[in-house]
Amino acid sequence: MTHETLQAHWQRYLTNWLKQQENTRLLQSMEYSLNNGGKRLRPMLLLMTALIKSSEAAENALPVATALEYIHTSSLIHDDLPAMDNDDYRRGKLTNHKQFDEATAILAGDALLIDSFNLITNATGLTAEQRLACVQILSKAAGSQGMIEGQMIDMASSTTMSVDDLRQMHFLKTGQLFIAAIEMACVIANFNDTVTKQLIQFATHFGVAFQIHNDLLDGLKEGTGSDEVNDKGTYVTLLGAQESKKQLADERQKAQNILKDLSQTTSYSFEPLNYFLDFLQDPTPKASEVSYE
Ligand code: IPE
Ligand code: IPE
Ligand code: MG
Ligand code: MG
Repeated sequence: MTHETLQAHWQRYLTNWLKQQENTRLLQSMEYSLNNGGKRLRPMLLLMTALIKSSEAAENALPVATALEYIHTSSLIHDDLPAMDNDDYRRGKLTNHKQFDEATAILAGDALLIDSFNLITNATGLTAEQRLACVQILSKAAGSQGMIEGQMIDMASSTTMSVDDLRQMHFLKTGQLFIAAIEMACVIANFNDTVTKQLIQFATHFGVAFQIHNDLLDGLKEGTGSDEVNDKGTYVTLLGAQESKKQLADERQKAQNILKDLSQTTSYSFEPLNYFLDFLQDPTPKASEVSYE
């Protein structure tokens, strides 16, 4: 199964899941942000990792992949609110609170967050233990010791923060959901502890590389990036573009090496996960071709 086929298959699952609900204004607001041009990196990371084991594992992972995209979407809706980054546009379209209204956006974010756990309990292809493990992994990664704490640190961050603090902020804010994608895939695919540990390392390097790449792209937008306008610490403001690019290449290489090593030491090929690293090339040469909001 190709990446495209798998993504289309997952999109059909999401569409059918949403169709079961009454078409309220709340659902419309949730759907607006769910189907608004996201790259689907987190659900695809989970599904592609499960697919390395078998098609059956990938099939069983569909509700969990959806839960992950729900949490990601909820975090973006809340992140754009006036009390947070105060952004009017995301992915080239109006942010949820601009398209709807602030109260609806807050509630759509809440609903996505809560419904994500309902999705996991409905993953009928998984055992009760697997579902419980997924709930545990995802709630820890997204909650007060994970993504939300990262967002708190972000709110207080400034261009004078240390690089260590910046890395810790991103490890929580962005890295945790990538790590959760991999960890939940390992539970679903029943990968052993050694493989799981190495894949978590892969996700950690991928998360850092993703963030540096994101900051480099933000810097290319010359003054329009909300991080810059809001005087936030980023890899580019703290380290400069050259050093950021060096660290990006370094993190990508480390992630790539893990996949190579896993493919040599196990009976599976983990090379398909290189797909995610391909997103994170040095963005400078092809800046005009990149649309990354
Ligand atoms: C954007 O993530 C938010 C961060 C964690 C920095 P993505 O770039 O994966 O968002 P979409 O879903 O593809 O728009
Ligand atoms: C997005 O973070 C939200 C989370 C990571 C939880 P940012 O504020 O850094 O990303 P963009 O630039 O709005 O996508
Ligand atoms: Mg933010
Ligand atoms: Mg933001």
